[in-house]
Amino acid sequence: MNITLTKNSRISNVDFSNLQFGQIFSDHMFVCDYFDGEWSNERILPYSDIKVSPSSRVFHYGQAIFEGMKAYKDDKDVIWLFRPDENFKRFNISSKRLAIPEITEKIFFNGLNELLKIDRDWIKKGVGNSLYVRPFVFASEPSINATEANAYKFMIICTPAKSYYENQEIWVKIEEKFSRAAKGGVGYAKASGNYAAQFYPTQIAKNEGFQQIIWTDSNNHNRVEEAGTMNLFFKINDTLITSPTSDSILDGITRKSIIELAKKVNIDVEERVITVNEILESSKTGELKEIFGTGTAVVVLPIKAFGYQNNDYKLPDLDNSWSLMLKKKLMD
Ligand code: COI
Repeated sequence: MNITLTKNSRISNVDFSNLQFGQIFSDHMFVCDYFDGEWSNERILPYSDIKVSPSSRVFHYGQAIFEGMKAYKDDKDVIWLFRPDENFKRFNISSKRLAIPEITEKIFFNGLNELLKIDRDWIKKGVGNSLYVRPFVFASEPSINATEANAYKFMIICTPAKSYYENQEIWVKIEEKFSRAAKGGVGYAKASGNYAAQFYPTQIAKNEGFQQIIWTDSNNHNRVEEAGTMNLFFKINDTLITSPTSDSILDGITRKSIIELAKKVNIDVEERVITVNEILESSKTGELKEIFGTGTAVVVLPIKAFGYQNNDYKLPDLDNSWSLMLKKKLMD
């Protein structure tokens, strides 16, 4: 692999105690190109702007996917990644759905490991600190022919991160008009366009005082799906319920880790359809104890309240919440 190191590290200008998610990037990036049917030219370069043609297909047809993963450093300066093999698998599942050529395990992990070694000082020790790693691939071929491209770029960039919603109370809105994904669509893939399509409905929700949307099924908006940057869990009485993954729900790595951890501590976990009616009813009777989201960026995020048809429903304040207990186990 070709490696060019920066002569001007930016690390001393960064206030690691005061980070906004995704604003500052580490000193280097990994790049690899796809041409003539193969991935080649793996290289690490100083983080910088890149040159792409205005006709690159990604700008016109959105052929792009990404992953999100976190690197941590322990007290002995050892770097840990959280289940990166799962991110690698999902990267190729997403690529396949978008007709993007799959990347080899060797290229993915050589690039990732080398980049993290070089930028290791950007990973800070201590609970709550991490380096968020963003692998992504996009159609770089200069052509606006509306078919899959013949040239792509695979890149990895890194941004030091605290929690995604640092010290914020999270209110979510149950969406009834817009949809995130439909049966047979790309909802299970980390397709860049899935996120773009959420911005407008989320903008409306934000103006109404919410941070995120609970997406419901596109047919009748009654089955809960996910929240766009996170999967959702509901504690009703003493059962933890989460929607089963499907072609419209992302197969979250934190989601499956939380299910495994909850089962280990003998929590009754149900992966089944959960409806808006069930949430409303159990909230009214007091049986709905907690809602929390899970995802790489948020890790485990307790929800304070949800809104539905102009009514707000607050979750009780709990001393022994499952969300915090499971988050601690996950971080440990
Ligand atoms: C992640 O948790 O990695 C996500 O995909 C959320 C991101 C869009 C901020």
